[in-house]
Amino acid sequence: MTGSFHVPVMLPQVMELFAQAGGDGKTVLDCTLGAGGHALAMLESGKVTAYRGIDADPEALERARGRLFAYADKTDFILGFFDQVLASISGTFDFILFDLGLSTHQFEDSSRGFSFLREEALDMRLSPDLEDSAFEIVHREREDILANLIFQYGEERYSRQIAKAICKARTRSPIRSSAALAGIVASSVPPSYRHGRIHPATRTFQAIRISVNDELGREARGLEIASKLLSPGGILAVISFHSLEDRIAKRFCKDFAKSRGLQELNKKPLVPSDAECASNPASRSAKLRAVRRPREGEGT
Ligand SMILES: C[S@@+](CC[C@H](N)C(=O)[O-])C[C@H]1O[C@@H](n2cnc3c(N)ncnc32)[C@H](O)[C@@H]1O
Repeated sequence: MTGSFHVPVMLPQVMELFAQAGGDGKTVLDCTLGAGGHALAMLESGKVTAYRGIDADPEALERARGRLFAYADKTDFILGFFDQVLASISGTFDFILFDLGLSTHQFEDSSRGFSFLREEALDMRLSPDLEDSAFEIVHREREDILANLIFQYGEERYSRQIAKAICKARTRSPIRSSAALAGIVASSVPPSYRHGRIHPATRTFQAIRISVNDELGREARGLEIASKLLSPGGILAVISFHSLEDRIAKRFCKDFAKSRGLQELNKKPLVPSDAECASNPASRSAKLRAVRRPREGEGT
C-alpha cells in the first residue's frame, strides 16, 4: 500500500465553491468520499456542521474513516453506490460533490486489476457486491458486443481488432490477469498505436471498468437525484475525468438542472492550473462543472 494519500483534484476551486455555498454552517454531501482529501479540507475549514460521505468501495470508506477520525462527531460514512444511496437519503445539503472515477489507491493498491501495468486478478469491481467482474464480461460477451462496448465506453478506434483478439485468446485459455489482457490488447493494434502517447490498453481498460461498474448510468442518475437535495443557495459540483463523463455532466448542467430552475455557475468547465497538472498528472484531464439552487426571490 502506498504511504501517501490520493491527492484531491482541483482543491482550490472546490474550496471556493464550498465557500460560496449556503451560509456559515454548512451541510455537505460527498458522493465520492475516496481517500477523504476534499472532505478533510472542508472539515478543517471549521464551517461544516454535518458531513455525509458515500463510497461504493469498503476499503476506501475505511481509509477515509481513519483519516477523518478527528471529525467523527460530524461525519457519517455510507457504504454504497451513490445513485442507490441518494435515492433513500433525506434532508437537504448546502454543498454536494461528485469527484468521479477512481482514486490513486484503487489503481495502485487495490489488487483488483484496474491498472494495465500490474499483474493482478481481472476484477475491476468498485464494490464486492457487484455480481459480474471484468473476468465475466471479458469471457461471456460475444465478439460484436465486446467490440461495441470498447468502442462506446473507451472511444477506442481499434475496438473490433481488440475484441477479435480477446475472443481468440480466451478460447485458448482464460484471461485471468490485468497484465494478460493488456498484452492481448497491445499485440492486436498497429505498432504506431502501440508506441503512441498513451498505453494501447488505456481505452479498453476504461471501457471494461465503466461497464463493470455502470459508471455512466450511475453518474446520470446520481446527478439528477442529488440536485433535488440542494438547499436554497446550495451548490452541486461535479469533477469528471474523461469526455464521456463530462458529456453527462454538461448535459446535466445545461439541460436538466436549468429546466429545474438551477443556475449553471460557469458556462465553460473549470480546469486545473498548470501548476496542478505539473505536480499531479492525474489531474490533467479534470473538468469541474457546478450548478446552484437560487434562494427564494433570486432570479435564475
Ligand atoms: C476520485 S476518488 C475521490 C477522491 C476524494 N475526493 C479525495 O479527495 O480523496 C472517487 C471515489 O469515488 C468512488 N466512486 C466512484 N463511483 C462511485 C459510485 N457510483 N458510487 C459510490 N462511490 C463511487 C470510488 O470508489 C473512489 O473511492
